[in-house]
Amino acid sequence: MKVMVVGGGGREHAIIKELKKSPEIDKLYALPGNGGIARDAECVNIGAKDIEGIVNFARENGIEYAVVAPDDPLVLGCVDALNAIGVECFGPSKAAAVIEGSKVFSKNLMKKYNIPTAAYETFEDMDEAIAYLRTVPAPVVIKADGLALGKGVIIAQTTDEAVDAVVSMMADKVFGESGSRVVVEEFLEGPEVSVLAFTDGNVLVPMVSSMDHKRAGDNDTGLNTGGMGAIAPNPYYTDAIASECMKTIFMPTVEAMKAENRTFKGCLYFGLMLTKNGPKVIEYNCRFGDPETQAVLPLLESDLFTVMRAVSSGKLAECEVKFADKHSCTLVLASNGYPGKYETGFEITGDDKADACVYIAGAKLENGKLLTGGGRVLAVSAVGDTLKDAVDKAYLEGEKVHFENKYFRHDIGARALKAAK
Ligand code: AMP
Ligand code: GLY
Repeated sequence: MKVMVVGGGGREHAIIKELKKSPEIDKLYALPGNGGIARDAECVNIGAKDIEGIVNFARENGIEYAVVAPDDPLVLGCVDALNAIGVECFGPSKAAAVIEGSKVFSKNLMKKYNIPTAAYETFEDMDEAIAYLRTVPAPVVIKADGLALGKGVIIAQTTDEAVDAVVSMMADKVFGESGSRVVVEEFLEGPEVSVLAFTDGNVLVPMVSSMDHKRAGDNDTGLNTGGMGAIAPNPYYTDAIASECMKTIFMPTVEAMKAENRTFKGCLYFGLMLTKNGPKVIEYNCRFGDPETQAVLPLLESDLFTVMRAVSSGKLAECEVKFADKHSCTLVLASNGYPGKYETGFEITGDDKADACVYIAGAKLENGKLLTGGGRVLAVSAVGDTLKDAVDKAYLEGEKVHFENKYFRHDIGARALKAAK
């Protein structure tokens, strides 16, 4: 089969490396892919938001199956547009992707269907939002309604900070139209867990749980990033919590989407917080998480393409989804300065020496050389029998990869190791 993957980061590289193992795929394209992905798939210079370009490419090249990985094309209706020309897809329709595309939608959904989440109010009027903030205790959480590259969430420690956040979103429009509506939410405390799940709209199969590391600096200091590393499974997520989540969060969400005529097919991502009062939803994503995917997929023993086709054809109940009883650690190697300013264009070497999965996120190929081309450059994912083995191996193998201005966190998995004890 001819298959294309829409997207061009580390997550897409991890998906492509899994798809490459499938005997049913004889040609793989990535739109746009990147310099590292180019070693595993044919990269085509069409951006992930260029829905018309993507559809034309699929039509002209006889694409039979598409995996749409990033949030933007999903929210823009890429799957609907490809389905309309007869291309089967892994990923939700536009109607279902709204679960990530609008925080107001997802919060209202959870309220309507009694799915545990932080208490909240939504506002379209800035003065009303500010008046409300003066009545609630700090810290308080302000979220822009729409997609904002993961940056639209502000944890305000004081009421003044909260007011500033609302003004920056609603008046100064720092996130554009994404901030024309805001959610003001109760501040929750507890360990965070990411659970990615396959669902065909009726059946839901969770993958192994994971833990992201969002801050740029060691010990969770510094700015929020797209993710500096991940481990899987997450030791805080016990079997008892997993079955509670299945009952109170996962299946109710699948059923709620169906009841709203927004049947969700694809990978549904649950960002959970394990509070004193039980697990609560912090966010939904309509797609595989990044960098969680780079930690979870190395543990998948089943054929990813077989599972994806079971999801898109509504036959997930008949499909076995198996994960290894092992642990993984994903270490992100970034450009010094990220998520602020950083330099690119440095040669990456040694990535072929690492005895681990190396997933390229931001790099370009020039004259056969792989050069850094982004803030997050690549991820090294190692698997071990214990979490400690996986963490040690990720760092050891990560040392074999070189580029100028290489930056990484030194404590990926440290919190999980403490919890596991
Ligand atoms: P999100 O983009 O919704 O995942 O939010 C980014 C991060 O902000 C989350 O991973 C949490 O660490 C934090 N966060 C979001 N909502 C809350 C909340 N209600 N209480 C505490 N922290 C939160
Ligand atoms: N790791 C969080 C996300 O993919 O949004």
